Amino acid sequence: MTRRTLAVVSAGLSQPSSTRLLADQLAGATRDELVRRGHDAELRTIDLREYAHDVVNNMLTGFPPAALRAAIDTVTGADGIIAVTPIFSASYNGLFKSFFDVLDAGSLVDRPVLIAATGGTARHSLALEHAVRPMFSYLRAVVVPTAVFAAPEDWSDGTADGALRGRIRRAAGELADQVERRPPTSGPTDPFALTTDFLQMLGRGGDTPVS
Ligand SMILES: Cc1cc2nc3c(=O)[nH]c(=O)nc-3n(C[C@H](O)[C@H](O)[C@H](O)COP(=O)(O)O)c2cc1C
Repeated sequence: MTRRTLAVVSAGLSQPSSTRLLADQLAGATRDELVRRGHDAELRTIDLREYAHDVVNNMLTGFPPAALRAAIDTVTGADGIIAVTPIFSASYNGLFKSFFDVLDAGSLVDRPVLIAATGGTARHSLALEHAVRPMFSYLRAVVVPTAVFAAPEDWSDGTADGALRGRIRRAAGELADQVERRPPTSGPTDPFALTTDFLQMLGRGGDTPVS
C-alpha cells in the first residue's frame, strides 16, 4: 500500500460555501477510489479565503507569509490536486487565480489536477473549459478530462443529485488513474536548495575540509 496525498483547494468566499461542499465531495470520492485500488489516501484541504490577505501580500512583496508558504507547499507537494472555484463574471474568481499566480514557475508540471466550479447558472459551466483548463495547461499540469460544474439545481439539501454524483464519480476515477500512474511525490521542491556543492562554489573541491 502506498500513501498518496491530495491537495484540495477551494476558492469559495461564502460561509457555508457551495464551492467547499463540491470540493469535499470530489475529495471524498477520489479518496474512496484510491483506497478501493489499494492505496492509502490523505486529504489536505486549503480554504483560500483564509489566505486571502497573505496572497495579496505575496503579490506585493514577492514572498509568502509563513502560513501561505505551508499551504503552497501542501499543493506543490501533493500527488494530485482538486481545484474548485466559484464562477465570478464568467470566469474563475480573483482569489483562485491569484493563488495559482504566486506559485513558483514549474511547480505543477505533470501534476494531475481535477478542476471544478460552482455557479449561479448552468449557462456558465463552460468557464471551466475556456478559463480554468487553459490556466492549468499553461502551468503544464495534467488536467483530467471530466471537469465538474455544479449549478444550484444540482443540489438538494446539500447533497449532489444523481447527474452531479455521476460526474463526481467519473472525475474522481480519472484523477485516481493519473495519481496511480505516477510514483508518489517526494514533497515540494525547495526553490532555495543548493544545486552545487557549497565547497565547490568556494573553489575548494568537495573533499577539502574547511579550516
Ligand atoms: C461577484 C460575483 C459574480 C458572480 N458571477 C457569476 C457568473 O458570472 N456566473 C455564474 O454562474 N455565477 C456567478 N456568481 C454566483 C457564484 O458563482 C455562485 O453563487 C457560487 O456558487 C458561490 O460559491 P460559494 O457558495 O462557494 O461562495 C457570481 C457571484 C458573485 C459574488
